[in-house]
Amino acid sequence: MKHYQKLIENNKAWADQMVAQDPEFFVKREAKQTPHYLVIGCSDSRVPLELMSGALPGEMFVHRNIGNQVWETDINLISVVQFAVGVLDVEHVIVCGHSNCGALKAAQGPTTNGLIDNWLSDIRNVIRWNASELHACPTDETRLHLLSRLNVMQQVGVLSRMPIIRDFWTRGKRPMLHGWVYDIGAAQLSDAGHTNDGPRPLARPGPVSPLLGRFSTSRPCHRPARPARGHPSPSSPR
Ligand code: CO
Repeated sequence: MKHYQKLIENNKAWADQMVAQDPEFFVKREAKQTPHYLVIGCSDSRVPLELMSGALPGEMFVHRNIGNQVWETDINLISVVQFAVGVLDVEHVIVCGHSNCGALKAAQGPTTNGLIDNWLSDIRNVIRWNASELHACPTDETRLHLLSRLNVMQQVGVLSRMPIIRDFWTRGKRPMLHGWVYDIGAAQLSDAGHTNDGPRPLARPGPVSPLLGRFSTSRPCHRPARPARGHPSPSSPR
């Protein structure tokens, strides 16, 4: 069997398993979707948003691009936000970055990546605006981790300036905005330290950190402690 054909086989096995647990699971979801979350994530194949968060079909509306970016001029993303917030009435919009992101690595280097450098230009702004903090990080790894958090916060800031979001907040409605980071090696999701749940003074374009309400000024450049995972020892009873 070709490896790509395995995907179709896997789908059948997964569907059979789900139906065995709930015969109506898929039928109940066919008519409409009522997701609670819009997640804007990176296209990276190691960041399976639904799988890693345990979200079931119908719970998560998803948009992905390189570097989990929010551009006010991206008609694709604006349409997704408009539909998710305005029509589906999602309660939470989550920007999810991740460790060891290739987009963030590339943005730290010289502009020799071709067309994609245009797409990375906003991340280069994040690097420039936070240069002193990033330079203070002791290692490339910790610098990259801090950048992943700063990038997520920046994108949440851009979301908070979008007219569709501000219009809903003005009318006292949701959504709540979140910035999260996923540590690939530890399979651990964590809050990047920024939650925004209502109108704030309108941030001007540029570094968002001093201009938004709940931004923590404490941004240590270290990775969160990795949790101990439960691997049974060879002597453990089975
Ligand atoms: Co990435």
